[in-house]
Amino acid sequence: IIQQIDSSATSLQGYESFMMKEIRESWGAVRDTIVGLMNDMEKLGKAVKAMDKARRILVVAAGTSYHAGLIFASRLMRTGKTVIPVIASEYENVKAGGEDVVLVISQSGETMDSLLAMKSFKNSGSFVVSLTNTLGNSISYYSDIALHTRAGPEIGVAATKTFTSQVGALLLISSLMIGENLDYLKEAESTVSSSFSKSIGYAEKIGVDVSKKQSLYYLGKGLGVPMAMEGALKIKEIAYIHAEAYPAGESKHGPIALVEKDFPVIFVNTGEHVDELRNNLKEMQSRKARVYVVSAGSELRSDQEVTEIMIDINDARLAPLALAPPLQLIAYYAAKERGLNPDRPRNLAKTVTVR
Ligand code: G6P
Repeated sequence: IIQQIDSSATSLQGYESFMMKEIRESWGAVRDTIVGLMNDMEKLGKAVKAMDKARRILVVAAGTSYHAGLIFASRLMRTGKTVIPVIASEYENVKAGGEDVVLVISQSGETMDSLLAMKSFKNSGSFVVSLTNTLGNSISYYSDIALHTRAGPEIGVAATKTFTSQVGALLLISSLMIGENLDYLKEAESTVSSSFSKSIGYAEKIGVDVSKKQSLYYLGKGLGVPMAMEGALKIKEIAYIHAEAYPAGESKHGPIALVEKDFPVIFVNTGEHVDELRNNLKEMQSRKARVYVVSAGSELRSDQEVTEIMIDINDARLAPLALAPPLQLIAYYAAKERGLNPDRPRNLAKTVTVR
């Protein structure tokens, strides 16, 4: 299959970086992804049926794609389904068989760790569904059912619009498996675009603030945990700031020891279990941490001292889509403030072909 690449995707078109251009393309990418998957309901239905019948679903991916996979896994585990998230390079830890289905998620479809993992699981008899963003890639070639996100080419090394598209695709797939009404996904595109407009100013302020720091925490709860992991990965990748993500409740079991006056902590709030998360926020404030909040659905902050990006959503399931733009923008502005080119982080390549 020859992929049509429009030259507008590979030129800056007046933007100062591909990363900013691609974050701005993310709502269209989410829309095209959801529409594209639903246009081939036969294929999507087969994938859903295979995963429904499976004894266990193994979600295999690396980096940002793994975080998208964790959102999918959490949504299904909450319904009682057995889902095992597997970091691709750690696949040897899991024995799979013919009753298991593997969902491999990879933007490029070429990441060597993910390819080796899927081949190994396939050799053990597992059925493989893939979700990739390019046509004719190796992972989709070796999979039994190849699904695609439709984010178009992503030039910036750090995944942005492709992550948001993966989240959109995985919300759709998990909703089909759970038997949910899909109407809420009609607002996927507007959720991402209005989140971008609402958050850009605050995200710049937070990004500039944290750019002066050596280290920070991202704390979340529920689906906020994989989003926190993605926020931390992004700021490490492009701004070279040490960041760790933790479930907020777990932060008291060790990580809090590092927290002192002005230590930056970004809370990622999906609107679930807000009271518990607020208690964690107060614990951090009582250690004089510099607290920031990125919220979707309901407000978290307890006082005016806290900078909070608050994104309104009409359905709680849209929270991960609403949280993606501010987390990406914080990393972008931190990198920019440090004089770094967000498109070309050192030591990273778009497709990792060596093990
Ligand atoms: C590389 C990049 C990451 C990316 C990961 C997985 O290591 O630096 O940003 O998330 O590969 O890429 P994939 O193409 O498999 O999604």
